Amino acid sequence: MTSKDIVNLNREYVFFSWSTQSAVNPLSAVRTDGVYFWDADGKRYLDFSSQLMNVNIGHGNQKVIKAIQQQVQEMAFVYPGIATEPKGRLGQMLAEITPGDLCKTLFTLGGAEANENAIKFARLYTGRHKIIARYRAYHGATAGAMALSGDPRRLPVEPLIPGVIHVMDPYCYRCPFGWTLETCHRECIAHVEQVIRFEGPDNVAALILEGVTGTSGLIIPPDDYWPRMREICDRYGILLIDDEVMSGFGRTGEWFAVDHWGVAPDIMTMAKGLTSGYIPLGAVVVSKDIADYFEDRPLPMGLTYSGHPVSMAAGIATIGVYQEQRLIENARAMGGVFKEGLEELKARHSSVGDVRCIGLFSVIELVKDKETKEPLAPWNAKAHEMGVMAQVPSALRERGMYTFSKWNWIFAIPPLSINETELHDGLRILDEVLDITDTGTR
Ligand SMILES: Cc1ncc(COP(=O)(O)O)c(C=O)c1O
Repeated sequence: MTSKDIVNLNREYVFFSWSTQSAVNPLSAVRTDGVYFWDADGKRYLDFSSQLMNVNIGHGNQKVIKAIQQQVQEMAFVYPGIATEPKGRLGQMLAEITPGDLCKTLFTLGGAEANENAIKFARLYTGRHKIIARYRAYHGATAGAMALSGDPRRLPVEPLIPGVIHVMDPYCYRCPFGWTLETCHRECIAHVEQVIRFEGPDNVAALILEGVTGTSGLIIPPDDYWPRMREICDRYGILLIDDEVMSGFGRTGEWFAVDHWGVAPDIMTMAKGLTSGYIPLGAVVVSKDIADYFEDRPLPMGLTYSGHPVSMAAGIATIGVYQEQRLIENARAMGGVFKEGLEELKARHSSVGDVRCIGLFSVIELVKDKETKEPLAPWNAKAHEMGVMAQVPSALRERGMYTFSKWNWIFAIPPLSINETELHDGLRILDEVLDITDTGTR
């Protein structure tokens, strides 16, 4: 089939996520390898978003593919009530690579289900019901996870679960309290504590934060933010849930983003990089105290595919790849090169207001005017408000790159296996596309 045939077949019979169906114009894909994928007409794309920020180890890794093949051959499936070696081994590996005393895992199929179950763990363990989450956050599309998400995708599907309260973010480029990083008194931190007090600390089960905020603008918190969130939670007996679905598995140059700040959460959720997308898998890992709590109480949670043997085999092999290919070290090293390149783009282009980069997790924030910081397209922009930003997706594709752009952001989140030549290729393409966005500045 040609690319057009494949797209037409899809357009007729399947829905595309988060989109007005008549407006979608998807690429096709028939083959992937390393940091590239190819459409059905043979055109190659540099994958600068690791698909959905999940193919951290890169495409076509033979070790993971073989592990999946072998597991399917030996035992494709047994139900979650049966103990298997891969399930126990992967649980053990997660206990080893996660911080603090996180030690016991419930496996899910993806990130949203992991967060659903994190809410249950927190409510059951504390006997409290409220959850504090942030506005600039995405935690998944199921009812509970979407209620946690401040992301505007929540709005058309409300009402969702009760008891979720949103707070402001440490978005230093556009501080919601009007300060700069140098002049502020961490109003964003005091604000969280104030909201907890207004809501009644005895009613608050958990505070959930993305390790580093992903799709809501790639917001990197100041260094004292996570440690002080830990202190606030400890002060009021509130559990700290760390959503590492996007920022985990080497993405930021550490196993998990919170490792940058030496913080141990009570519950960590993960998915995406856990298997790098080769097979779906998510997980909730909890502290020893929470694990112990269920030693003599029933655990009211379950999924047909929890601990699916094939997902377990993929997870074990993927963690092996991070270790053997030193991908987290590579993310750190390439992240340094990338950050420099992005700073150069910022200096050269009138439309680049800010670049934020930690490891290989980065965004370019585009403005009409660097002084006023007026965004090139507004937050939650409708199609007719996108202005010059509407040209970005096709400009990237024409140049053989695929990555996400949203409102006034262009994300650059390549596989951790990327080398310097591929990284510079990507920067060159972004440079050309920013010449286009510069035409939208004053
Ligand atoms: C931080 C975060 N949490 C949770 C999710 C939901 O994961 P999934 O789409 O696997 O349900 C996502 C997805 O992008 C995410 O970025």
